[in-house]
Amino acid sequence: MESTDTILVTGGAGFIGSNFVLEWLRTQSAKVITLDKLTYAGNLRNLASLAGDPQHEFVQGDICDQQLIATLLKTHRPRALVHFAAESHVDRSIKNPGEFIRTNVQGTLNLLQCSHPYWLELGAEQRAAFRFLHVSTDEVYGSLKLDEPAFTELTPYAPNSPYAASKAGSDHLVRAWHHTYGLPTLTTNCSNNYGPFQFPEKLIPLVLLNALEGKPLPIYGDGLNVRDWLYVGDHCEGIRTVLASGRPGQTYNIGGNNEHTNLDVVTRICDALDELRPDAKIGLRRNLMTYVKDRPGHDRRYAIDAGKIKAELGWSPCTGFEQGLRQTIAWYLGNMTWVDEVRSGAYQEWLQLNYRGR
Ligand code: NAD
Ligand code: DAU
Repeated sequence: MESTDTILVTGGAGFIGSNFVLEWLRTQSAKVITLDKLTYAGNLRNLASLAGDPQHEFVQGDICDQQLIATLLKTHRPRALVHFAAESHVDRSIKNPGEFIRTNVQGTLNLLQCSHPYWLELGAEQRAAFRFLHVSTDEVYGSLKLDEPAFTELTPYAPNSPYAASKAGSDHLVRAWHHTYGLPTLTTNCSNNYGPFQFPEKLIPLVLLNALEGKPLPIYGDGLNVRDWLYVGDHCEGIRTVLASGRPGQTYNIGGNNEHTNLDVVTRICDALDELRPDAKIGLRRNLMTYVKDRPGHDRRYAIDAGKIKAELGWSPCTGFEQGLRQTIAWYLGNMTWVDEVRSGAYQEWLQLNYRGR
């Protein structure tokens, strides 16, 4: 049995999880055990810079595997479980909802069911310190009209997509494990992230890479849907803050105070690339924007009121959108090997499934 200060991170080879693990090991002393199934969205290249780091251990496995989770907890005795693992893409949830229920609902249930007896058997001091931190989304609150106030932690749940419904289900399970069994849980509900290592099925990296190559930029519907964009590094800092000081049983909204329509986001990316990578054959990249059939059930607007985490824990975002976008674009331009690797094989099949004939 180990006695080191350790945390267990699920989904740590995905977009936000890998940013979290890398930053954690740069800034904190506790060791990290990363558990990830390595689905299409998980990529060990994201963690390549940790090769040989004795503070990091990677385990390939499924959060639905009861035996594996129980063994990991017993072996490593983590002081916290930080749960990122999920199916995360709304369009995929519309095509294949079952996988979202399995991983997001049943997987979270399994983690709770394994954590509860583990937590009960800890010594008093370790039991008091243990935290189960569940990373969730603002999509559980549904859709806002343009003039409605932003989501608070008290906004009633109204999930609209299979993805949002599966995340809402997992949030409710986490709440119940605190209320019924006393497990010291924390839930964070965050807005749209962007930054390094994001899989190019999501708006910002998809548009960035298509624009770079002069391909059409698919705009769903009228392009006036609004999202609140948060730089991934700010999100990771918010999670560390909640883990360190959040009150067990509470939920905390995390957002960027940064609402933009999709048209605005895509235009900014086009203009930045025209400046950084001008290409006479492509011309003005704004002209690549192509309106396509809308996403079914497309939520009109998300906005986060992050007043609680600011007032209670002192966290607020620090990366402006222009700066964050520039950093993100620079990262993708400087990491085309990563891009080429993730865009091979199954990614091409996804593009066919989601965009052909749209
Ligand atoms: P992602 O799709 O990039 O990564 C998910 C990771 O989970 C991948 O590494 C994948 O291999 C792993 N995974 C999937 N199923 C698994 C399973 N059954 N067992 C173990 N590992 C499994 O997702 P992301 O964008 O990094 O999101 C991480 C978390 O944050 C998710 O819970 C998501 O709901 C939440 N979230 C995301 C955003 C966003 O904008 N991306 C915003 C708010 C909340
Ligand atoms: O709000 C938090 C959520 O943000 C997270 O919980 C999800 O995991 C994450 O995927 C993200 O969901 P969205 O559906 O908002 O993100 P996506 O990047 O898929 O789309 C952003 C907006 O851009 C949305 O209004 C749909 C639109 N869009 C998206 C794609 C992929 C397009 O117009 N064209 C596209 O090709």
